[in-house]
Amino acid sequence: MGILEELSSIVAQARQEMLAAADMQSLEQVRGKLLGKKGSLTALLRSLGTVSPEDRPRIGQMINENREKVEKLLEEKRSELASREKELRLQKEAVDVTEPRDLPEIGQIHPTQLVLREVLDCFTGLGFQVVEGPEVELDKYNFEYLNLPKNHPARDAQDTFYVEDNVVMRTHTSPVQARVMLTQKPPIRVVCPGRVFRADEIDATHSPVFHQIEGLVIDENVTMGDLKGTLDAFARKLYGADITTRFRPSFFPFTEPSAEVDLTCFNCRGKGCKMCKGTGYIEVLGCGMVNPKVLEMCGIDPEKYSGFAFGIGLERITLLRYGITDMRLLYEGNLRFLRQFRG
Ligand code: DAH
Repeated sequence: MGILEELSSIVAQARQEMLAAADMQSLEQVRGKLLGKKGSLTALLRSLGTVSPEDRPRIGQMINENREKVEKLLEEKRSELASREKELRLQKEAVDVTEPRDLPEIGQIHPTQLVLREVLDCFTGLGFQVVEGPEVELDKYNFEYLNLPKNHPARDAQDTFYVEDNVVMRTHTSPVQARVMLTQKPPIRVVCPGRVFRADEIDATHSPVFHQIEGLVIDENVTMGDLKGTLDAFARKLYGADITTRFRPSFFPFTEPSAEVDLTCFNCRGKGCKMCKGTGYIEVLGCGMVNPKVLEMCGIDPEKYSGFAFGIGLERITLLRYGITDMRLLYEGNLRFLRQFRG
């Protein structure tokens, strides 16, 4: 076969192979086979030496022209493949913003925590500071500083989980009062939310683990009027402007005098209904003027200072806030129940 026939067959074949190349890699192979060190066109150029000197310039020129043609074709094919590959990539990476997707489940705040936030919001608005204390508590803070010495009959009212002789799961948040009085100087204005524990059976109104919010105010000239005004503000903030408090005499060793406080029934607004057993009121908390004996034990001069304290049952006011009738619902983690509450 003459060198020119060989040239045209090489070029024809290269053209076909280039057309067929589906991606950069196969195009690169075609180029290598043609123009690489051992490529067919390269070999052809080398074989020019065997051509007679008079034919050599013409044939050499033809080979070079064809080689340029092939290179141009390669370049064209290369840019065509590059833009196709780019297009494919863009297609693959495209995000359909209209496509519906599975949204992750977003959690919600538990109703008890929703009410706690409202309560803390109310009291911090009145200038109270939020303080917390330990859940595993020393007997002396849980009882003794609160005027409940060993063998005091009022200890029986709280069925206590003992960890050791002098260590208990706190039965109320009142020990935080003692801790605050022992470490802060008046004026004191604190609220202390937290979990408390009692060896109680579970029923619609009892749980061995529940929550309280303790309040304590100590300053000069603090009176029962201040206590009433504060609790009235709290009642109105949580349940509405027409809700008032009713104080009933009671007994707590750490307050003197002491009172239980009822709120106007949120359900019937005082008219009397099933929820309030026809009385128009619902009991929500215990309170009183801090017993001077407690002030003294905690290093505060009862001649100079007086104060009030209160303990609110968080579950209680949550049930009232939402009209829930069984406290167990607050602990069971039933999503069908919990999803009804939005913060
Ligand atoms: N600690 C009491 C209880 O758990 C509630 C209580 C009553 C707290 C009167 C107080 C208070 O601070 O003054 O039953």
